[in-house]
Amino acid sequence: MTKGKNGTVFFCQNCGYESAKWMGQCPGCREWNTFVEETVRKQPYGGQDAGRRTGQARGMKAVPSALSEIPAGSENRISTGIGELDRVLGGGIVQGSLTLIGGDPGIGKSTLLLQVCRNLSAEGHKVLYISGEESLPQIKMRADRIGQFTDRMLLLCETDLDEIAEVIRSQRPEAVVIDSIQTMYNENVSAAPGSVSQVRESTGILLQLAKGLGVSVLIVGHVTKEGTVAGPRVLEHMVDAVLYFEGDRYASYRILRGVKNRFGSTNEIGVFEMQERGLTEVLNASEYMLNGRPEDASGSVVACTMEGTRPLLVEIQALVCQSNFGIPRRQTTGMDFNRVNLLMAVLEKRSGMQLASCDAYVNITGGMKIQEPAVDLGVVLAVVSSFKNQVLSPKLAAFGEVGLSGEVRAVSQARQRVAEAEKLGFETCIVPYVCAEDCRKNSGIEIIGVRTVQEVMGWLRE
Ligand code: TYD
Ligand code: MG
Repeated sequence: MTKGKNGTVFFCQNCGYESAKWMGQCPGCREWNTFVEETVRKQPYGGQDAGRRTGQARGMKAVPSALSEIPAGSENRISTGIGELDRVLGGGIVQGSLTLIGGDPGIGKSTLLLQVCRNLSAEGHKVLYISGEESLPQIKMRADRIGQFTDRMLLLCETDLDEIAEVIRSQRPEAVVIDSIQTMYNENVSAAPGSVSQVRESTGILLQLAKGLGVSVLIVGHVTKEGTVAGPRVLEHMVDAVLYFEGDRYASYRILRGVKNRFGSTNEIGVFEMQERGLTEVLNASEYMLNGRPEDASGSVVACTMEGTRPLLVEIQALVCQSNFGIPRRQTTGMDFNRVNLLMAVLEKRSGMQLASCDAYVNITGGMKIQEPAVDLGVVLAVVSSFKNQVLSPKLAAFGEVGLSGEVRAVSQARQRVAEAEKLGFETCIVPYVCAEDCRKNSGIEIIGVRTVQEVMGWLRE
C-alpha cells in the first residue's frame, strides 16, 4: 500500500483504486472527482486473511491437504422461494456464501431481500435482517405490504459490526441480510462509514462470519454517482456472488443480473415487476418486453437475443432522418453506441444507402441493455426500415451477427431463439443462412436464411 505524507491513502470511491496523492480522474475507472482521503490502519501480516477459508485457529500450523482426499460434497443450497432469484443464484443460496446485491437507491433491494426473508422463515429457516438505514417501524410497514411473517424472522437495527457479529454468533441464524454495507462501521477503522476502507473491512468481518459459522450473508450495496460513498464495485472481489438490479426506477419492471458467481453461471437474468405488494416474478419476459409494440410502424423490429440460457425477444426501434447540421447526430439506448455506428457504416458501404448525412436514434425498448452481437441483424433491419420508411411484418423476428463485409454470421442457440419466437406467435424468422437448416427442425414457422445484409432488404414492404 502506497501511503501519502500523513499516513493516509486516497481511494477512488467508485472502484477502490488507491493512490498516494489526490487525482482528478481515476486511472482505474475513468470517473471524475471520486478520490477521498482515508486513514488506514496498519494490518498485521496475515491478520485479516488468516484462517478465513479453512477455519483454522490463528497460530496453528498450516497443513495442506491432498485434493483427492477431500470428500466430495455438493454445496448445500436453500431455495429463496423466488424462482427468478434462484435462477440467477444458480439454484438457491449456498450455505456459508456471501452474496452482494447492488443497485441504485429505490430500485427494490430491501423489498426483494425482505421477501426472501419471509419465504425462508416460512420454510422454517431462521433469518436475521439487519438494517442500518430504516427503523423497526419502517421495516414493519414495508413488511405489512409484503405479507405475513413467522417468528423465525428476526430484525435488528444496528450499524456497529462488533455488535452485529455478537448477535450472529449468539443467535446462529441460517441467513443474514445486511442492509446496507455502506451504513456499517467498524471501530478499528477510523474512516467514516461508507468509505472504501470501512466497506472493505466490514465485508472482511462478514466474510469471516459467513465462512466460519456457515451462515449465508446477503449484502446490500447502493450504487452511487456522487462518489461520496464507496460503491459496491470495491467489494466485488471479496464476495462469492454479485447480483445487480437494473432497470428504470420509473418503470415498474426490474432486471436482476448476475455478474459474478462462484457457484453458478453469470449469464442469467431474473425479471421482476414492482407492484403494490412487493416484487413479483415476470415469467414470460419476452411478452413483457414486447408490450405496447406499435404495429405497422417503420423502424420497429423484433430481435431474438439470449440472456444466459433464456431466449428473450426485444423490440429494436430506429429513427433515421436527414440531419440539419454538418455532423449527424447518433444516439443509442440499451445498445453499444459504437456498434450501431459500425453497422450503419457497413450498410452504407454494402447497400449504397446514404446514411452518412442522417441522424440516427436506436433504442431497445423495455430498458434492456444488450451486448450480444446477435441483435445486429435486428438493428440493420430497423435502420433500413426507418430510412426507407417501409414497415416490416409485425409477425417477423430476426437475429444474426453482421460482419464488416456485410455477411450475416452464425449465432449460438439458434433453435431456442426460433422456438421462443414461435411461442409468441411470430410467423417468420430471419436467421443466418448457416443456422437455417438447424432451425427448420421441429419448428412450425417460416425460416428464412440470409447470407448478407443485401438479401434482407427484400423483406421490407411499402
Ligand atoms: P426499496 O426496496 O426500498 O429500494 P432500495 O432498498 O433498493 O433502496 O424499494 C423502494 C421502492 O419500491 C419505493 O419507491 C416504493 C416501492 N415499493 C412498491 O412499489 N411496492 C411495495 O410493495 C414496496 C415494499 C415498495
Ligand atoms: Mg433499501
